Amino acid sequence: MKAIVSVTQDWGIGLKGNLLVRNPADMRFFREQTMGGTVVCGQTTFMGFPGGALKGRRNVVLSIDPDFAAEGAEVVRSLDEALAAVATDDPDHVWLIGGQSVYHQLLPHCTHALVTKNDVTLPADAFFPNLDDDPAWHVESEVAGGVTKDGVAFAFVTYAR
Ligand SMILES: NC(=O)c1ccc[n+]([C@@H]2O[C@H](COP(=O)([O-])OP(=O)(O)OC[C@H]3O[C@@H](n4cnc5c(N)ncnc54)[C@H](OP(=O)(O)O)[C@@H]3O)[C@@H](O)[C@H]2O)c1
Repeated sequence: MKAIVSVTQDWGIGLKGNLLVRNPADMRFFREQTMGGTVVCGQTTFMGFPGGALKGRRNVVLSIDPDFAAEGAEVVRSLDEALAAVATDDPDHVWLIGGQSVYHQLLPHCTHALVTKNDVTLPADAFFPNLDDDPAWHVESEVAGGVTKDGVAFAFVTYAR
């Protein structure tokens, strides 16, 4: 499994349920990477998708709520169920896409993390673990992404364990 995430300088990923940085180039990158594969996310992140389940991908959504059903997605009720659901998928095409709680719980099962690093600090209430502070992870590659319309420079950084 690989994590894919967009972070600010202090590894912030969200505020009040919303993403922090508007970045269409990053959205395209996310789409290209995950297309054809499986995405794994928490109920909160899933409910934030404007068009429902992500098209062209198998959607696996975590929720303990027995009444929660998601059109176009498979709902799993525990981490073990999530891991069992993706066990026979090609691990290079299983994507952990958030949010905070699910990143923290399933990151130990990831071999890589594709991190879009936005060179800005913004108020946040959701964070990704700081991989620069974790000796288990190292930077495998880094590619400059450009600058958003709001003037935020960003880079696509791949971490490996
Ligand atoms: N920057 C990025 O790349 C990025 C990507 C994704 C999300 N985000 C941000 O992350 C924030 C949301 O994160 P979040 O932590 O609040 O929500 P989340 O991880 O998306 O979803 C949390 C929900 O997932 C379910 N869940 C979590 N662990 C579970 C487990 N072990 N077993 C069963 N169900 C489980 C629960 O749903 P039930 O309550 O239904 O049981 C829980 O309430 C938002 O601000 C969003 O914008 C950022």
